[in-house]
Amino acid sequence: MAKVRTVFLCTECGGAAHRWQGQCPHCEAWNSLVEERVRPAPKSERLGRAAGGAEEARAVSLASVEGVDRPRWSTGLEDLDFVLGGGVVPGSMVLLGGAPGIGKSTLLLQVSARLAATGHRVLYVSGEESAYQVKLRADRLPEPTDEVLMLPETSAEAIIEKIENLEPDVLVLDSIQTMYTDRLDGAPGSVAQVREVAAALQRVAKRREMATFIVGHVTKEGGIAGPKTLEHIVDVVLYFESPTGLDHRIVRGTKNRFGAADEIALFRMGAAGLEPVANPSALFLQGREDAGASGSAVVATLEGTRPVLVEVQALVNRSVYGSPQRVATGFDGRRLALLLAVLERRARLKTSDLDVFLNVVGGLRLAEPAADLGVVAAVASAIKDRSLDRDAVFVGEVGLGGEIRPVSQLERRLNEAGRLGFSSAYLARGGGGGGRPGSAVALRRVADVRRLVDELFG
Ligand code: TYD
Ligand code: MG
Repeated sequence: MAKVRTVFLCTECGGAAHRWQGQCPHCEAWNSLVEERVRPAPKSERLGRAAGGAEEARAVSLASVEGVDRPRWSTGLEDLDFVLGGGVVPGSMVLLGGAPGIGKSTLLLQVSARLAATGHRVLYVSGEESAYQVKLRADRLPEPTDEVLMLPETSAEAIIEKIENLEPDVLVLDSIQTMYTDRLDGAPGSVAQVREVAAALQRVAKRREMATFIVGHVTKEGGIAGPKTLEHIVDVVLYFESPTGLDHRIVRGTKNRFGAADEIALFRMGAAGLEPVANPSALFLQGREDAGASGSAVVATLEGTRPVLVEVQALVNRSVYGSPQRVATGFDGRRLALLLAVLERRARLKTSDLDVFLNVVGGLRLAEPAADLGVVAAVASAIKDRSLDRDAVFVGEVGLGGEIRPVSQLERRLNEAGRLGFSSAYLARGGGGGGRPGSAVALRRVADVRRLVDELFG
């Protein structure tokens, strides 16, 4: 029998270290290393091989691999298909991470029901809830869940055996942190267990062409391996977020071997499960109707390839302390400091004696430079205490010289603005956007921030 080794594994990224350290040498997370005892199983005994993957792999020429445009399976939720890169790929493994209680089980049960309704055999393995609890949830959903096969189980060996018998097209594993394999020491949820179970199921999934969804809880306290441990194994990584802290949920793709990453789908958690939100911009702009206050500007940003309009709010106040405060929510604090310096030096708007607060409404994070112009406009409007044209959007990067620079995908942003009834857009002088006959959005091209301030406030 192989010797038991003690290693220190990172619950964030799964990296190994020989001794305990305060910081993970791989992903630099603090306090994430936990001691685990691993006994490497002899090769012949490793879980996936023992589970029937015995036939040897052969090298094949790529030309002989058929089915390049093999059909994908629709989840029945259009936006989720989009985030997945056009539907579920047979044989792929999708990781769905998120905080407990955010709706992972609900979403996957809805997806299971819809896939089952289109003739796929779906096995839903729950390690957290009994069949009765899952049924209670199922009864709240609009989708008929009768065809979904439900299995309360936590042993990987037992699950693989059931897979061989039931031959499902789709497997849902809820959650990976409750599953274990007999072949390793260590409690369910330890880094080694989580990785071994996922790897074994992946071998089975690839061989059977079974699509697998894995639920992974994001945990703040260490000790339980987080979804990050699995990110490099799986094909697609989705994270479930709650941007507004209300009922809204964003599913965000952060890795996708079959399509673009960084795409989002928006849902609302209601009394009957998750409903798609067709119009994200309208959601992020809601509550603006009766605004009219100074310091508010609308930015046309991109989430993946999807344009979204978001409101940016600024508030300024005379600073009572020596060094003024700069507080940004949803926007990089250093970028804000830079833009304030540009405003002061290039547009002669004094900012150095002001406390500045910036907020991106709706809980989104604006990470693109294209949001600069909107931030500058919001801050300038707050300093002047004059409101901006309600029907204008701002798109542009601002350079250190105060110059306004063009942004990518301008057409998409302007189209979204037009669709939502905006009548004008402030943007850079160059960089396309011109050939748009019949567009309702008037283009106001501005060379630099000084001219912008002049144009906005006369
Ligand atoms: P759940 O899917 O169990 O979360 P997770 O699997 O990510 O831990 O969702 C739990 C929450 O969702 C719970 O607070 C109840 C709520 N919920 C609704 O609001 N409406 C519904 O139709 C369902 C099924 C759940
Ligand atoms: Mg759950």
